[in-house]
Amino acid sequence: MSSQLEKVKELIELRAEARLGGGQKAIDKQHERGKYTARERIAQLLDEGSFEELDMFVRHRCTNFGQEKKSYLGDGVVTGYGTIDGRLVYIFAQDFTVFGGSLSETMALKICKIMDMAMKMGAPVIGLNDSGGARIQEGINALAGYAEIFQRNIMASGVIPQISAILGPCAGGAVYSPALTDFTIMAKGISYMFLTGPKVVKTVTGEDVSQEALGGAEVHSNKSGVCHFAAEDGEHALKIIRKLFGFIPQNNLEEPPLVPCTDPIDRLEDSLNEIIPDSPNRPYDMYEVIGAIIDNGEFLEVSRDYAKNIIIGFARFNGQSVGIVANQPKYLAGVLDSNASRKAARFVRFCDAFNIPLVTLVDVPGFLPGTGQEYNGVILHGAKLLYAYGEATVPKVTVTLRKSYGGSHIVMGCKQLRGDMNYAWPTAEIAVMGGAGAVEVLYAKEAKASDNPAQVLADREAEYNKLFCNPYNAARYGYIDDVIEPRNTRFRIIRALQQLATKKVVNPAKKHGNIPL
Ligand code: HXC
Repeated sequence: MSSQLEKVKELIELRAEARLGGGQKAIDKQHERGKYTARERIAQLLDEGSFEELDMFVRHRCTNFGQEKKSYLGDGVVTGYGTIDGRLVYIFAQDFTVFGGSLSETMALKICKIMDMAMKMGAPVIGLNDSGGARIQEGINALAGYAEIFQRNIMASGVIPQISAILGPCAGGAVYSPALTDFTIMAKGISYMFLTGPKVVKTVTGEDVSQEALGGAEVHSNKSGVCHFAAEDGEHALKIIRKLFGFIPQNNLEEPPLVPCTDPIDRLEDSLNEIIPDSPNRPYDMYEVIGAIIDNGEFLEVSRDYAKNIIIGFARFNGQSVGIVANQPKYLAGVLDSNASRKAARFVRFCDAFNIPLVTLVDVPGFLPGTGQEYNGVILHGAKLLYAYGEATVPKVTVTLRKSYGGSHIVMGCKQLRGDMNYAWPTAEIAVMGGAGAVEVLYAKEAKASDNPAQVLADREAEYNKLFCNPYNAARYGYIDDVIEPRNTRFRIIRALQQLATKKVVNPAKKHGNIPL
């Protein structure tokens, strides 16, 4: 064999060794845990054969605790680039078979390298997390590595989309990288995220809690809102990422992909003319409205199980990607509270950062009153949503279906927050507050002094409703651009979006605003 051939053979052997990560035994153990390896996950996620791996020959540099005798090619992360539906993405997948995927100095360098490349090329970064946290043997070098990654997450925010899948442990300060990214997907049963694990919790607070109950996928999608998509398993998590990519652009200078539309743009949806119940206190399901107006009923909901009183997610109108924000009358009557405000505000900002128009469907009775909300800072959280809408420069189309009262009317993409096209259904009630509450404030004394207080209040309420609880009062002042037939909503939104395609609005130059965090 020529010496060149020998060198080629050596390369092939080294590559094979690198592909085994921490070795066959560790791979088998990973499978026994119900998890795929880093390379298997990358193969599942990217277009077939598109992955180009980088830094396969990197090894850690640590000599503490005899680490120099134990090192693996590629260290604990697989990095590189490939495509999803033909579009370039950068990816890192932590390899749990190598020191439990724990983050070393060199692992951080590998991750930072592809993050820097992604920024240069204007392409998204996907992180597949499965790690025991900072590599304990490396001490401060591992911490510095995390900080380098966080800094890049911050600089990339709003420039390129960043997506995190949690497919195993993600604990300690390591959770902050996913938290800084745009979307976090957790796989049920195998993933958990927490700042301090159950043992530390027990020591510090005495609380007994399992990993799942402390930071499993269900907890973070229902209670904390940290997780945007709870996947059934690891494979499902990767499918969600592929689906999500269909709605978002490569970077903040590009438009989201336009897909051919097979759903007629002028499709009339007669059911919408009868969807609003006669009684203002009866709910209906906003999902039915969304499903009826978007292309082919295809809706990718974000944070489905968190703050269900507001619905957010991606859909298309005539093939154009939009972000939908909609109150859900079926849950807490669609009231806005702290969690709903935060949930929607972050989504509005994502859409605005990445040139995705906003379609807002309004049926909101107001902000949830009470000490629970006030002590929780609903003023600041509501202001976040207000800020997000007011700051957004993407096309904004708002349709008011029924209630739109008080502060919540303003917050939900009203005209004065630079709503571009504001439509209302004939059933819309746009006012400072509902009739019953208003007459209590205005006419309680008059009613008390009369022989028939109930009649006085009923008469006054009817008068109030006639004057204010309709769309025409707002339309009279131009706060509503048109009152539309509900069944024609899809067509009117599409026409509005077509008209707004060339919209250009630039906010004043500044270092950055001071959103009420
Ligand atoms: C070095 C680690 C490691 C770590 C796991 N391993 N975590 N090596 N540093 N942080 C190694 C284990 O020693 C083991 O090596 C292999 O990975 C697999 O781990 P197991 O414990 O056998 O797996 P499992 O039973 O599934 O448990 C997984 C685990 C557990 C729950 C993640 O390993 C664990 O608790 N690890 C420590 C977690 C932790 O406290 N990390 C530091 C958090 S603080 P062998 O050779 O036996 O196969 C932190 C600060 C970050 O991260 C701050 C950023 C700002």
